[in-house]
Amino acid sequence: MLEGGWIRKMFEEGIALKKKYGERNVFDLTLGNPVIEPPQEFHRELRKWVDNPVPGMHRYMPNAGYPETRDAVAEHLSAETGILFTQNEIVMTCGAAGGINVVLKTILEAGDEVVIFAPFFVEYIYYIDNHGGVPRIVPTDARFIPELKSLEENITPKTRAVLLNSPNNPTGAVYSGDTLKAIGDLLGRKEKEFGRAIYLISDDIYRKLVYDGLECPQVFQYHPATIVTTSHSKDLAVPGERIGYIAVNPQYKERGELVGGLVFCNRVLGFVNAPALMQNVVKSLQDASVDVAEYEGKRDVLYNGLVEMGYSVVKPQGAFYIFPKSPVEDDVAFVGELQKHNVLVVPGKGFGAPGYFRISYCVEDWVIEGALPGFKAVAQQFGLS
Ligand SMILES: Cc1ncc(COP(=O)(O)O)c(C=O)c1O
Repeated sequence: MLEGGWIRKMFEEGIALKKKYGERNVFDLTLGNPVIEPPQEFHRELRKWVDNPVPGMHRYMPNAGYPETRDAVAEHLSAETGILFTQNEIVMTCGAAGGINVVLKTILEAGDEVVIFAPFFVEYIYYIDNHGGVPRIVPTDARFIPELKSLEENITPKTRAVLLNSPNNPTGAVYSGDTLKAIGDLLGRKEKEFGRAIYLISDDIYRKLVYDGLECPQVFQYHPATIVTTSHSKDLAVPGERIGYIAVNPQYKERGELVGGLVFCNRVLGFVNAPALMQNVVKSLQDASVDVAEYEGKRDVLYNGLVEMGYSVVKPQGAFYIFPKSPVEDDVAFVGELQKHNVLVVPGKGFGAPGYFRISYCVEDWVIEGALPGFKAVAQQFGLS
């Protein structure tokens, strides 16, 4: 099976189990589909645009998106980073997935390598492959943080980009400013050594979902050739609406040519432009977010429960996933045992990290509560204390 098939496979097993045992008796922790509804401001803006249509608001537009929306994003990023962004550095996209594909099509030549850190969001493999690139997988440390030595060993004259994701899917790890600085410094040195740009692509889709009062550092200050891809799929809980953006570092000298390429690729990949209505809606929602405390509460119940049962687990600091160690080496076998208790999770194998499993906790509280006895029974079965 293709590695990425694991999430879908488990999700589909869940549908079959629900038919057999009833919706409320199956505890499906497989998908990253936000359970929280979009914030009130989202509905307010949506109603405003639907009730007061403006002539032309459903027509084609510049492929980069509405200038007013890009201005709003630029203003938000300038305030957050202290670096002056303008609409010229922003391209509106069809979600983060659309954005990452646009970036990779723009920067990759056949055979170029893109470094990703394991465990990883498995779609990256396919996105890189879409554009003739070769994924170069680099392990992380015990807390799922990139290790400089391994990274350095994997940067070659063919490396075109390092693609990172913090807060991370599937681990919930948040990279510190020090980690980002070390990565940026290394890329700067390697650019000089190999005489070509090495892009740092930061998938910031979970950026607003951080816990314990933490702030997620911005990457722009650490490397000039930096590109952020993100979306409102998770922070406004609207993944079905396909709205996101790419932001190019204003400190990158070749940004004019790069952005020209991004706009062209947005067009010729067939996205054409990000959805018009959503661009209008999110224009004034750049600082809005779902109530992060709700996810934090779910994390706490799950994390504390698992620790008490003896699972070895790193406390996630963001996103809505937790990535414990499987009590047995064979994560697929472990996931199979859990399934006997109608609890569905995804084996770590599906994220390039066998020996672990991923729990997605963007679910209703009863799903978490209902899953805990299953986790406990399997923990006891495998001798955890
Ligand atoms: C790390 C990561 N990047 C990108 C995406 C895709 O996001 P979007 O729905 O905005 O395309 C996801 C979706 O789950 C994700 O987890």
